[in-house]
Amino acid sequence: MILGGRDTDLVLLDENGIRCDGRKIDEPRKIMIKAGVLKNADGSAYIEFGDNKIVVGVFGPRDVHPKHLANTDTGILRCRYHMSPFSVEERKKPAPSRREIEISKVIKEALKPAVMLEQFPRTVVDIFIEVLQADGGSRCAALAAASVALADAGIPMRDMVSACAAGKVADTIVLDVNNEEDQAGQADMPVGYMPNMEKITLIQLDGVLTPEEYKKCVETAIGGCKLVYEIQKKALTDKYFSNGGNN
Ligand code: CDP
Repeated sequence: MILGGRDTDLVLLDENGIRCDGRKIDEPRKIMIKAGVLKNADGSAYIEFGDNKIVVGVFGPRDVHPKHLANTDTGILRCRYHMSPFSVEERKKPAPSRREIEISKVIKEALKPAVMLEQFPRTVVDIFIEVLQADGGSRCAALAAASVALADAGIPMRDMVSACAAGKVADTIVLDVNNEEDQAGQADMPVGYMPNMEKITLIQLDGVLTPEEYKKCVETAIGGCKLVYEIQKKALTDKYFSNGGNN
């Protein structure tokens, strides 16, 4: 039995290799994605990734305001990740925090390689991410949902961007770190990945890993991304093909 760092009563990994929420080390949380949930957006998606609940609305390609931001050679991508005040235990101030500004940027950068922005110069695609409930790994959940929302908006893409984190808990590399594991564990590594092009578009690391652990963590996270990809595809096929395309 291995106890966590801050909360000494929390068993991060028991003698049978079971984690604090009952999962095995290579087991992701339950994931559900629904495409096309907002009537006023050009594309949208809702994701439940464990206890994360996130909705994404995509608008565009449309005229850029302010106009001086427009690029004559290519379209631009804008992204806002926002947490609702009730999304976490302690009330989150509605104004954008440093963390939200950082996550908005990393999600935008993670999506950019997939979106064929060169096909719509002078325009912008806006991605609005609203976190209704957060429980660790919200940037990966948001990135996966944003990718589905872009596809739902009909934005030309080279590939989907899937996302999943891996981390180190009780000296063990585990898939999909939850909030308790993020707080008490040793490392958290969110990864964004284009599954067909086999390219990583996001990698961050909070914690310390040996070179071998780093490699294993990346491989584990990519394995998770491939699982998420199947759920992303299902969200789109459910919307566009389950009702003779009349959805
Ligand atoms: O959500 P993600 O793991 O991508 O980002 P993080 O900065 O590592 O945050 C981990 C978790 O901390 C979030 O998912 C929330 O559950 C929690 N959190 C919080 O309780 N209050 C905040 N103001 C921000 C995050």
